[in-house]
Amino acid sequence: MEKKQNGFASGLGFILAAAGSAVGLGNLWGFPYKTHANGGAAFVLVYVACVLFIGIVTMLCEIYIGRRAKANPVTAFKFASSKIGWFGVLAVIIPGFISCYYAVLGGYTVRFTVNSFGTNAGSFVSFAEKEWLVILFTAVFIGTALLVVMGGVKDGIEKSSKVLMPALFIILVGTVIFSLSLGEGVSEGLAFYMKPDFSKLSGSGILAAMGQAFYSLSLGMGAMVAYGSYTGKEVNLLKSTAMICLCDTGVALLAGFAIFPAVYHYTATTGLEAGSFQGVGLMFQTLPLVFEDLGFIGKVIQFFFFFMVSIAAVTSVISLFEVVSQFFIQKFRIRRKKVVMAVAVVAVLISVPIGISLGQVLGGKENAIVIFGQNLLDLFDIITNTVLMPVCAFFSCITVGWIIGPKKFSREMEQDGQKLGLFSSLFSVMVKFVTPLLILAIEIFGVYDLVFPVVDSARSFSANGLGITLSAYGLLALGTVIYFVFLKNSDTGTNEDETRAEK
Ligand code: TRP
Repeated sequence: MEKKQNGFASGLGFILAAAGSAVGLGNLWGFPYKTHANGGAAFVLVYVACVLFIGIVTMLCEIYIGRRAKANPVTAFKFASSKIGWFGVLAVIIPGFISCYYAVLGGYTVRFTVNSFGTNAGSFVSFAEKEWLVILFTAVFIGTALLVVMGGVKDGIEKSSKVLMPALFIILVGTVIFSLSLGEGVSEGLAFYMKPDFSKLSGSGILAAMGQAFYSLSLGMGAMVAYGSYTGKEVNLLKSTAMICLCDTGVALLAGFAIFPAVYHYTATTGLEAGSFQGVGLMFQTLPLVFEDLGFIGKVIQFFFFFMVSIAAVTSVISLFEVVSQFFIQKFRIRRKKVVMAVAVVAVLISVPIGISLGQVLGGKENAIVIFGQNLLDLFDIITNTVLMPVCAFFSCITVGWIIGPKKFSREMEQDGQKLGLFSSLFSVMVKFVTPLLILAIEIFGVYDLVFPVVDSARSFSANGLGITLSAYGLLALGTVIYFVFLKNSDTGTNEDETRAEK
């Protein structure tokens, strides 16, 4: 008798939850600013190609690895071979780190939502410097994610995604319509976004597109392994993967349609440089200026906009918490509520220095907390996303391509009633060679860029970059040691164990 206690109740629920993980700050903010930094439309085309050719393959691998083991990432990789269980440890450690800095940014989005009818314009740095306020909003944000994850997969994550994801989509479409109706400047914005000019695209732009695709799809961090483990055989993995990628890419593309016309409009009508499209500035400095410029209606739009960004961020943090919690619940057979509480408390504690450090650096404080020349938020971001994420994504492909093998993959998929047909041979070549090689390229160039960054248009060695790289690999080594010493020969639990522990 198959009891479906902890798992998604429906295929749609799974798709929405996984899309909730994927759609996040990376789509609504990272994608537009990276598109701008890398020359516009040509970057967009490369991005879409990356999703199609390497994103889908990697995501399918991760979901499949989780689903065949029906367990947390450590057990799931161990299930493929006990020698590689340490890949899974990485896939639990990385989300732990990401959730802490992601929550600080999540806190910012909540603050900007709440303050929408006040003045957000120009308030960014002064807010960032108010340590207690930053901590408070981060805690509120984490608390929200905590409540959802405590509810479990079906009653917490799935139910909330079913409401939040459609809401996000509706607000986004509304924002796009509004932005396109602004008049002056809109056509320039659209031209930049849609008319490709390949001369503007550099090699590093192509790598940035690949990296962004992985980040945006939540790959290489256990999230898809964990969510995949909660799907039953009735869920068609190939179709679901395609849908998740479609949602994620659709939201990123729509975000561009919301942001480019609006910022170009603002630049054209106020005669001011639109501040910048850059990084942190785009979301929290430039956009509030645009909204301010549009009067009361601008404030209403601002409220919905930041509310949407908060939703996107919270559904992503939910999946990060789930990965970490799932492992501890199953390994130590502890009740979900207790584990999630502990995870949230630790996340708040770690996010405190991150939030403080970012505020200090933005405010230009002299003895700000920086490590290797970076504020802690950027430091964590580089360690996890630039260095470790490709490693983990690479292993997911290798696990399916070389350890389980594409033949067994196809056979198991067909046993679940999923005909792969022609896709099977394409997949086999992609998963064995093409995708891992491309991921390897992202890793190598990412690290090269860190250690030998371009300064004044020449490459020069950076001791800080080396320091960051070594710390990241140190973390990797630590995870490996932990695995071989503590986890390899012990029972690391499965989804079943949670069901039992709750009784
Ligand atoms: N995909 C998320 C975004 O676009 C960020 C992210 C990266 C993430 N890896 C993740 C979220 C793992 C959850 C789990 O913003």
